[in-house]
Amino acid sequence: MAPPIPGRSARPQWWSRAVFYQVYPRSFADSNGDGVGDLDGITERLDHLSDLGVQALWLNPVMVSPMADHGYDVSDPRDIDPLFGDLAALDRLLAAAHSRGIRVTMDLVPNHVSSAHPWFVAALADPTRRDRFIFRDGGGPDGSEPPNNWVSIFGGPAWTRVPDGQWYLHLFDAAQPDLNWEHPEVFDDIEKTLRFWLDRGVDGFRIDVAHGMAKPATLPDMDLTENELLRNKADDPRFDNDAVHDIHRFIRTVLDDYPDAVTVGEIWVHGNEQFAKYLRPDELHLGFNFHLVQTDYDAAGIRAAIDNSLDAAALAGAAPTWTLSNHDVPREVSRYGNGAAGLRRARAMALVKLALPGTVFIYNGAELGLPNVELPDDVLQDPVWERSGRAERGRDGCRVPLPWSGSAPPFGFSSTPDTWLPIPADWKALTVEAQRDDPDSTLTLYRRAIALRTGRAEFAGDTVEWLGDSTFRRPGGLVCAFNAGAVPVTLPAGEVLLTSGPLKDGLLPPDTAAWLVSA
Ligand code: GLC
Repeated sequence: MAPPIPGRSARPQWWSRAVFYQVYPRSFADSNGDGVGDLDGITERLDHLSDLGVQALWLNPVMVSPMADHGYDVSDPRDIDPLFGDLAALDRLLAAAHSRGIRVTMDLVPNHVSSAHPWFVAALADPTRRDRFIFRDGGGPDGSEPPNNWVSIFGGPAWTRVPDGQWYLHLFDAAQPDLNWEHPEVFDDIEKTLRFWLDRGVDGFRIDVAHGMAKPATLPDMDLTENELLRNKADDPRFDNDAVHDIHRFIRTVLDDYPDAVTVGEIWVHGNEQFAKYLRPDELHLGFNFHLVQTDYDAAGIRAAIDNSLDAAALAGAAPTWTLSNHDVPREVSRYGNGAAGLRRARAMALVKLALPGTVFIYNGAELGLPNVELPDDVLQDPVWERSGRAERGRDGCRVPLPWSGSAPPFGFSSTPDTWLPIPADWKALTVEAQRDDPDSTLTLYRRAIALRTGRAEFAGDTVEWLGDSTFRRPGGLVCAFNAGAVPVTLPAGEVLLTSGPLKDGLLPPDTAAWLVSA
């Protein structure tokens, strides 16, 4: 562990050991029968989250949006989209969650707004009102070439031309124009937004594309040899420009007026030094670190990802964060090979992740062991599908609505079978109802693991000591062993607290993890 960083609070904050549950609101629970999940649906299903034992929620965006990128295109950052309810529905959710001791954090999208945002509508109508965005004249003799060669993360050029001939920058969809973070009104507006939600009782924010926002003044060309969704190169001029840290410092000055509120940044950068900059004492509280998301079920890879994440957080004296999946990446069951083996590995990794120090994020449905879904072309909605010329299928496969109960779609998610994405007909055994009282279910495994992590003294301490390639120990005494090999292995000494699957003749089988404490 690094020595204390000056300015960093010595008092452990609630988030530094919390288990967060990520709710993708479209897909969690639908209260009004339109086939899309909503805020009242979340409130109605809070028992599931209390039973699971999580301490906080992160809601993907629920602000007013034309939904070109399912809410990451915000046209009014200080109101709720009618698809999800209204401000009263958010208040109901906040009250119900808080009464159960569950905090609620929201998504904040500062890199861009929707093309339907009043600022952008005004900018299109009047060329003198464009300075809150990044408009430029085109290249080439007649301005018909984009101002530089930047490509959108979703595919195609990052520039779109408007009828009077100028071009505007959008690192994502054309319906998501990038804001100009050199304009004071952009700062004033984010402050208003932060205070609006914090004053309502929201407990913090997940900050979208926290490595974006600032752009180099000259907008130099990028190296086009590598451009993968959310995996930019180290010298990519589109991201991780130094001025971004002024923006985080500004956000932090507002957050500091609400001492219990947390920020967690989505940070895709290269190298721990770069990552740690975002977690300096006057910037973000937490940063998502995606090493485990990018790692196969492989002992050396998992160990390296864990060590790397610990090192990165320790550089800034911040709590590490752990996540196996989210709304942007294929679900872990499928990443680890699908079927029974994929599920076994996902369960083993759930124990690995919940054994680690710091903050854990669970993406809704991971606790049910849901796989990614292969959806037919005609239901795909992610803008990635069209923008990539239908080369990339996008992220819909991890966003399929959750199965709650019953034996056929919509499995209690909604009163209509016409859900925004179809739910596979064979998910009967994966519903919350089917798993709730089954001692061997993935849901039961998650519930037990979270209860142990939250309640047992053996989970104390901020470090991890490796006892072998795939066994580590926490200072409090918890030992976690996972088997990523092909044959059963001997368990470390101790009393077994929990295993992700049955032991075999006292040995730890392949694709299985165990928690032990000294007897
Ligand atoms: C983030 C979000 C992703 C969204 C993108 C643009 O990466 O997680 O879902 O599409 O930002 O806002």
